[in-house]
Amino acid sequence: MMKEGYLMPRARISTFAQTDQPVAPSGVKPAPDCTLVIFGAHGDLTKRLLIPALYDLKVSGLLPDGFRIIGVDNAEDTTEGWRDRLTAMMENFTKDPSAEFYTPKIDETVWNWLSARLTYARADFTDPGALRDLGSGINGNAVFYLAVPARFFAPAVEALGKAGLTEEPENHFRRVVIEKPFGTDLQSAKDLNSHLLSVLKEEQIFRVDHFLGKETVQNILAMRFGNVIFEPIWHRDYIDNIQITAAETVTVESRAAFYEATGALRDMVPNHLFQLLAMVAMEPPASFAPEKVRTSKQTLFESILPVKPEDVVRGQYVAGTVKDMPVAAYRDSPGVASDSDTETYVAMKLEVQNWRWAGVPFYIRTGKAMSNRLAEIVIEFRVPPLTLFPSADAHSPPPNRVILNVQPVQGVTICFGAKKPGPEMRLVDVQSRFRYPDFFVREPNVGYETLLYDCLCGDATLFQRADNIETAWAVVEPALESWKAGHSAPEPYAAGSAGPRAADELLARDGRAWHPIDGQV
Ligand code: BG6
Repeated sequence: MMKEGYLMPRARISTFAQTDQPVAPSGVKPAPDCTLVIFGAHGDLTKRLLIPALYDLKVSGLLPDGFRIIGVDNAEDTTEGWRDRLTAMMENFTKDPSAEFYTPKIDETVWNWLSARLTYARADFTDPGALRDLGSGINGNAVFYLAVPARFFAPAVEALGKAGLTEEPENHFRRVVIEKPFGTDLQSAKDLNSHLLSVLKEEQIFRVDHFLGKETVQNILAMRFGNVIFEPIWHRDYIDNIQITAAETVTVESRAAFYEATGALRDMVPNHLFQLLAMVAMEPPASFAPEKVRTSKQTLFESILPVKPEDVVRGQYVAGTVKDMPVAAYRDSPGVASDSDTETYVAMKLEVQNWRWAGVPFYIRTGKAMSNRLAEIVIEFRVPPLTLFPSADAHSPPPNRVILNVQPVQGVTICFGAKKPGPEMRLVDVQSRFRYPDFFVREPNVGYETLLYDCLCGDATLFQRADNIETAWAVVEPALESWKAGHSAPEPYAAGSAGPRAADELLARDGRAWHPIDGQV
């Protein structure tokens, strides 16, 4: 149904293809009618991820006719101008198969439908008066997406509250979505949560961690709790250690203003890496209901001991070569102080003190300008109680590993010993691989589709609760405090390497080694 006043986009271009209106797959309900208000309409997140994700949701038939989007920003613009630029942007996406969002053709029916529902409003989203005017056109359900820098979270929510827009009309919802960073340490996270909770109820707040939008991350729960072959051995009796890696080849690029004050630990650890940790280590929830899942994560986070500063390694990349391209040192990047001690790499050992995991170290690491882009969780098992079979080479056979391949390879790899063909009984390490493209048709997906759909439907399973965030900060707080006290300067590592030597020593101390980030999976 086209509402009166909706403009059809003017552009009709060759990369658009026309089809019928899509319908939702059977058994899946479209989201309820809703106005999505995006603060930060001109920002990168809106353009690169939110609009493409909404397009994908419509392609899947999951947006209702009573859906509309109001883009809000400070700059002068018109609805037509905003639509035209987004139309051009969507067309551009068809030209770059390596982009986050790529599809060879934009479905014209779908894009017209979505574009006709876009309206632009110029407003200061920290001004209650401006928001009151904006709100006069919003009835019923509304989601306010704060696609804006973190310093605006509290003032924007306060203004929404003062404008009366967070009050839920009978039988309707009002929700607010915020992205990380949720604070920069334990105290600021607590302050932010208490600000938000002075205006909103917890169930109105949807804190996005985009790692939870990744299929391979959601699959960890499916794998563990939807099968019987993994869970019985998923504990200290069989598992020796768990390694979580998020290695990136990208550098600080043009993000120095953000990254200098943030660093690898704050950027990745208490959020993305802790979410991976939760998926792999939490107890089975009583059900898949949002609060049960989030409570299970919380119980796990509360069992992690505060990290010991001596179990944390910081690194900073110096000049090197990443994938055959020369890379300047972090300190020589535009906007970075020449004596910066911001870490671009961090590794740590965490201890989970519960019956399942006591004594099983969790090693986690993340870094920029590394030799390979790779996110994975390696579950390394204990060695068999006795060695019946010699190895095919001089080394003892490696332990069994289950590797959860998050990205760019998506799947699960199981490594185990098999008999090498020949007259002798000798073992070699072999791999059994499940890969997503071997089983599923690849649909365009930027990772925000499920998150947006779930938020519209009120399903908070994949979003973080206030206590989850605070507890994660509490675990890493000792490292932040010790760095603040000047106890550790980052150790240099060459761009294009696997990180600083001290990270290898962290595991060597325990008689272990990292799973190689360049090796075959
Ligand atoms: C973001 C960080 O949250 O996650 C970035 O701010 C990082 O520094 C990014 O590069 C990694 O996410 P993905 O999905 O690209 O692996």
